[in-house]
Amino acid sequence: MSTHAKTLYIGMMSGTSLDGIDIALVTFKDKLSVLAQTFLPFSIELKQQIKLLTTPGENEVERIAETEYLLTQCYATAVKTLLEKNTISAKDVCAIGAHGQTIRHIPPSSNHQGYTLQLLNPSLLAALTGIDVVSNFRQKDIALGGQGAPLVPAFHQYIFTELDNNGIKTIEPQKPVAIINIGGISNISWLNTSSSQGYDLGPGNTLLDNWYQKHQQGSYDKEGNWGKSGTLNECLLKELLQDKYFQLTPPKSTGPEYFNLKWLQACLRTNTDILPEDIQATLTELTALIITNAVNSVSPQAEVYICGGGQHNKFLLNRINTHLLHPLKLTQELGIDGDYMEAAAFAWLAMSRVRKHPVELKQITGASKNAILGGLFLAG
Ligand SMILES: Nc1ncnc2c1ncn2[C@@H]1O[C@H](COP(=O)(O)OP(=O)(O)O)[C@@H](O)[C@H]1O
Ligand SMILES: [Mg+2]
Repeated sequence: MSTHAKTLYIGMMSGTSLDGIDIALVTFKDKLSVLAQTFLPFSIELKQQIKLLTTPGENEVERIAETEYLLTQCYATAVKTLLEKNTISAKDVCAIGAHGQTIRHIPPSSNHQGYTLQLLNPSLLAALTGIDVVSNFRQKDIALGGQGAPLVPAFHQYIFTELDNNGIKTIEPQKPVAIINIGGISNISWLNTSSSQGYDLGPGNTLLDNWYQKHQQGSYDKEGNWGKSGTLNECLLKELLQDKYFQLTPPKSTGPEYFNLKWLQACLRTNTDILPEDIQATLTELTALIITNAVNSVSPQAEVYICGGGQHNKFLLNRINTHLLHPLKLTQELGIDGDYMEAAAFAWLAMSRVRKHPVELKQITGASKNAILGGLFLAG
């Protein structure tokens, strides 16, 4: 594997939906191109261990060390699987950009300095794979007064507006474009507008998943069918939409430590006797509306591309489309599979760290400057 030697990077992402690890092999030989991608689901036990660490509990230090160890083993397995499947040698990979697993994200506020915590042992991952590892991407941004999230809008800016690439289709200059990622939390990137370039919108899959898991078998509402069987409750929707997060001006970021079942329960106290499936229908509409309100308030004419696991929720997509002028498109049309957008972004972030390129985030996260992000952990 010599043609790609020293142009290959691996990007890895495991988000708050806790479904597993997305991994992508990316080359920057000429321009960015995703060569291979795969997904490694978490075991039920690991998922549970991580979930327990997302809220305060007993003996956290030991449980963090144990969970981090198991998680890093999974990251290493994902790397080995990707390399073996594509007959690529570890020595041909420049670096792995590994996000790790967020267990807390508390952005800075007027009364708190803020912190964000991603589990991953980068030294262990480097030792297990024989490849240099870049991780801890969010810390520097927070150190510079930024939100530490979202990071991916900087990648969207880079690939879709700056490069004239054969692999990745660049968008038309001047035409307003929004890229929506529906992961555990939903976020938006604006391209070609003077509006804030990207921020977290609010709930995505985690709230839908958590309500589904409480009332149904399985981890998520496949294609949104259960939500579709329910009836929207306007009163509940109105109350949920009044949350102060939705009114905040960007930069802003959030996580499931805020938008969770406890958050929902507070509204259910005043809206009693609603059927569980009606609540799922209402949460789906809430997710659709926070996305479409954001688009329509800046540019109803915008072309809107969607990525992240939420793109598979047909009912959600259908609800989004009813509120938009133009039908949603998939980022697949731009050359990147929406399930691996974030993994590709972490490969790019690793490349940026290795080449010491600052990441243009200050307009997105509110950091005081664009900085080189991530710590580099050498395999040698
Ligand atoms: N077929 C599907 N129908 C409905 N929802 C889906 C489907 N496939 C994936 N999802 C949703 O996508 C989530 C995973 O999204 P992902 O982008 O990986 O989020 P994260 O970045 O937080 O890991 C799942 O938890 C689920 O809610
Ligand atoms: Mg995921």
